[in-house]
Amino acid sequence: MEYVERFLEHSAEFTKEEFIELLKLAGNEAAVKRLADEAVRIRKEVYGTAVFIRGLIEFTNYCKNDCYYCGIRRSNKNASRYRLSEEEILACCANGYALGFRTFVLQGGEDPYYTDERIVGLIRRIKAAYPDCALTLSIGEKSYESYRAFREAGADRYLLRHETATEDHYKSLHPKEMLLTVRKKCLYDLKELGYQVGAGFMVGSPGQTLEHLAEDLLFLRKLQPQMVGIGPFIPHHDTPFADEQAGSVQLTLFLLSVLRILLPHVLLPATTALGTADTAGREKGILVGANVVMPNLSPVENRKLYELYDNKICTGEEAAESREGLSRRMEAIGYELVTDRGDYRE
Ligand code: 5AD
Repeated sequence: MEYVERFLEHSAEFTKEEFIELLKLAGNEAAVKRLADEAVRIRKEVYGTAVFIRGLIEFTNYCKNDCYYCGIRRSNKNASRYRLSEEEILACCANGYALGFRTFVLQGGEDPYYTDERIVGLIRRIKAAYPDCALTLSIGEKSYESYRAFREAGADRYLLRHETATEDHYKSLHPKEMLLTVRKKCLYDLKELGYQVGAGFMVGSPGQTLEHLAEDLLFLRKLQPQMVGIGPFIPHHDTPFADEQAGSVQLTLFLLSVLRILLPHVLLPATTALGTADTAGREKGILVGANVVMPNLSPVENRKLYELYDNKICTGEEAAESREGLSRRMEAIGYELVTDRGDYRE
């Protein structure tokens, strides 16, 4: 417990060794509770009991990358590929807007069909139709120039998980053409361009140690992102990691509290992976410091195909059902889904 109190006092100066000691307490009931209480106190001070929603539009599952953990990796020949047309994407936005979504997240694999020009066109159309909405991109590694073009076209936010801040671990999760240095540069470029930036990682990815997680926390403290997405690793049957163990929900929840305390204003989703690993995962996430949920606005026909990992939840329900269901779930635990862009609060 000593490290919990030390962390609460000195999170800005915490060292790698101290983070490791802190993370060893993820199974200690008193430590878990002390951190969660503090995380919730901070979350309520900054964001009250509001839970922000993001309408996720998974617009393409084509991907030129071959990440060992991911179900839509290039080498997965069993994945049936789709891409939504611009009209279909706009229809998702219209549906979402009517349901009270004021942030749309365009997420996809790194799909060469979606050139910068096409993405810019899409951004312009969405922002023209919904000037009161925030637009988030989650389309991977691009050049500074591309990120600038997207920003100038009106994109507000960008999600790009760093996956792991340790070079060797990064190499063990990705083929050799993918580089942690490139990933980190992208994140700094995005910050410089004035995006609200989201980084993050999987909890319990194969080979991950507490030392790796401590490096992730140090990296995030340095980057100071506006958003951090974390969720348990969940194996996908058609990947090289099919037989690896899933990540721990308990450790994910512990890390959510740690992140809320380390980055008090951060936008912190209770992720779909957390909701998949535990049926009450998203509620549990909110109750330890998270303040965002990201329901799916993709057409129901495509949902199952955007399969990053096995047994992903919410692939069968309409967006309306998913908003309604979540709304009730959040009310039941003393929070409320709000119709709001849900920007980062300085
Ligand atoms: N389990 C959990 N999360 C995954 N992601 C990709 N594959 C998996 C998996 N098997 C996460 C990655 C990626 C995000 C879009 O989804 O962290 O950045």
